[in-house]
Amino acid sequence: MAQSPAMNVMRAAVEKAGRALRRDFGEVENLQVSKKGPGDFVSQADLKAEKILFEELSEARPGYGFLMEERGVIEGADATHRWIIDPLDGTTNFLHGIPHFAISVALEREGTLVAGVIYNPITDELFFAERGQGAYGPSGRLRVAARDRLSEAIISSGMPYKESGKRPEWQDKIIALSNDVGDIRTFGSAALDLAFVAAGRVDGYLETGLGAWDLAAGIVLVREAGGLVSDHTNRQRMLDEGNIVAGNETVHGDLLKKL
Ligand code: IPD
Ligand code: CA
Ligand code: CA
Repeated sequence: MAQSPAMNVMRAAVEKAGRALRRDFGEVENLQVSKKGPGDFVSQADLKAEKILFEELSEARPGYGFLMEERGVIEGADATHRWIIDPLDGTTNFLHGIPHFAISVALEREGTLVAGVIYNPITDELFFAERGQGAYGPSGRLRVAARDRLSEAIISSGMPYKESGKRPEWQDKIIALSNDVGDIRTFGSAALDLAFVAAGRVDGYLETGLGAWDLAAGIVLVREAGGLVSDHTNRQRMLDEGNIVAGNETVHGDLLKKL
């Protein structure tokens, strides 16, 4: 497995931020039973993880730009490279003591996504991929599932946050879809949903109301695992539109038809 220096940098950064999230998650489990609840503490954990990623990546690659969920856009002297980061994807799970969340880091070069890492610090599962080099997970090379009947497929999705106003329409679509698929899961982390498609754990994934930071790393993973990704109109504008469909060729095509 060839691994570029950039991938080593990304892995080191997510592992360091992961150690901080792991410590904070232990604390959340205690705060869960306190009256105040873990809300503020979680937003601090989120910011802390993002700071670590920002510092580590800036030090290793001075000049690269950033698009981060919390800090937003930071222009770099090098306009050809940009990190796209969600320091904690699956905040609601984290807040409730559910060990299903991840750090997501992608690298974009001249507008093309070239590398992605998704790391769950609790299960210690690391998923990574580089353009043209394949996708890898805890037990080696990743391939999307071969299952090609939508009626037997397990599809993951998620509900847009209530405040977005996008929930009712999406709910209708998902309920309609549930009649055509084997089953539906909503795990609560878009990044891990995409990693699971790449790993063949679920057959497909579709969602709306997302940020570029939710999707960027997972897109590289699914593509490198032999899957297809697109926005809901079968274009490649996922990061701008904030919506996505992913799966093997058949599942991807069938899901698009249902939208
Ligand atoms: C959220 C998760 C969730 C998805 C939401 C995202 P956050 O990210 O990825 O699965 O349904 O739309 O905003 O807020 O936990 O980083
Ligand atoms: Ca997110
Ligand atoms: Ca987040």
